[in-house]
Amino acid sequence: MQILAIETSCDETSAAVVENGSKILSNVVASQVEFHRKYGGIVPEVASRKHIEVIAAVVNQALADAKISLKKIDAVAATYGPGLVGSLIVGLNYAKAIAYALKKPFIAVNHIEGHIYANFLVPNPKSLVPEFPFVCLVVSGGHTQLILVKDHGKYETLGRTRDDAAGEAFDKVARFLNIGYPGGPVIDEMSKKGDPKAIDFPRAMMDEGYDFSFSGLKTAVVNYVKRNGMPKKLPDLVASFQQAVVDILVEKTIKAAKDKKVKWIALAGGVSANSRLREDLKRRAKEEGFEVSIPPLNLCTDNAAMIGSAAYYLIKKGKKSNLDTEAVSTLRI
Ligand code: KG4
Ligand code: ZN
Repeated sequence: MQILAIETSCDETSAAVVENGSKILSNVVASQVEFHRKYGGIVPEVASRKHIEVIAAVVNQALADAKISLKKIDAVAATYGPGLVGSLIVGLNYAKAIAYALKKPFIAVNHIEGHIYANFLVPNPKSLVPEFPFVCLVVSGGHTQLILVKDHGKYETLGRTRDDAAGEAFDKVARFLNIGYPGGPVIDEMSKKGDPKAIDFPRAMMDEGYDFSFSGLKTAVVNYVKRNGMPKKLPDLVASFQQAVVDILVEKTIKAAKDKKVKWIALAGGVSANSRLREDLKRRAKEEGFEVSIPPLNLCTDNAAMIGSAAYYLIKKGKKSNLDTEAVSTLRI
């Protein structure tokens, strides 16, 4: 089964063709990052306008790369939330229009569920596909959640952030330090030249279940700079901040995996592109005897292939969405 999937929940316009939920035939991602950089963050109105400008070309490119015509597509999928509503409706309506015109099934996919399914795509060798039940840490610019994945489509949220998402903390700290946008990749790169033990930033809520809090850590960075001035060795500061985020994420994930007695841990979402997080989670999982699944970098950040994979498993469970499905900006898993 070949699914055309579309993802426009935030600032990436993406379309993909995915076969049987695992094989990527194409995955086109048009990033808007250049248009938002001068504002230091995503401007929703700019994002939706840019999606409209490029959606047709992105979908056509995905079909061309997959060497498939629209008529041969078995189903059409799109993200319907969570995300920016003006962005979501562009991809959602485009997908619904194609499904309606071609009389093909339409599948609306939750963006967070999509991120989890990056772990089921082929570049991740088959042997590394996680076995149910597994604990998945979903960390992105908008979400930080620990999810127990019991089966395809069966989720239990164990914990979530009470304030900022992990990616948001990276982006806000980078903006405060004026070191570039988006903050995650900039801090990741700069941290490689720094000492992560230089400054002992707080690790909030370590002993309080599976919820997270990152806004205090961001404030701790701001207060440190206000008290001591900009450090001579900025990489030490950002590496110490990054290590605090990573320690919280990794230790809570390991704790959840132990408590839930699972064999597998999976990682998902834009922040899972972070090199330190990937390294530390792999090491700690090995120490504790867990198998770990980490998607390749291009499948960690927003892309439509992950939506195509999630849609396949929804169809297999007999799910189909109505063409009047609306975008839900605050959708939960
Ligand atoms: O999943 P994603 O592409 O979009 C959302 O659904 O939010 O995640 C984007 C987030 C941004 O906050 C970005 O700074 C962060 O992922 N990010 C990273 C890295 N690459 C992207 N954070 C830390 N280290 C990275 N290497
Ligand atoms: Zn995302």
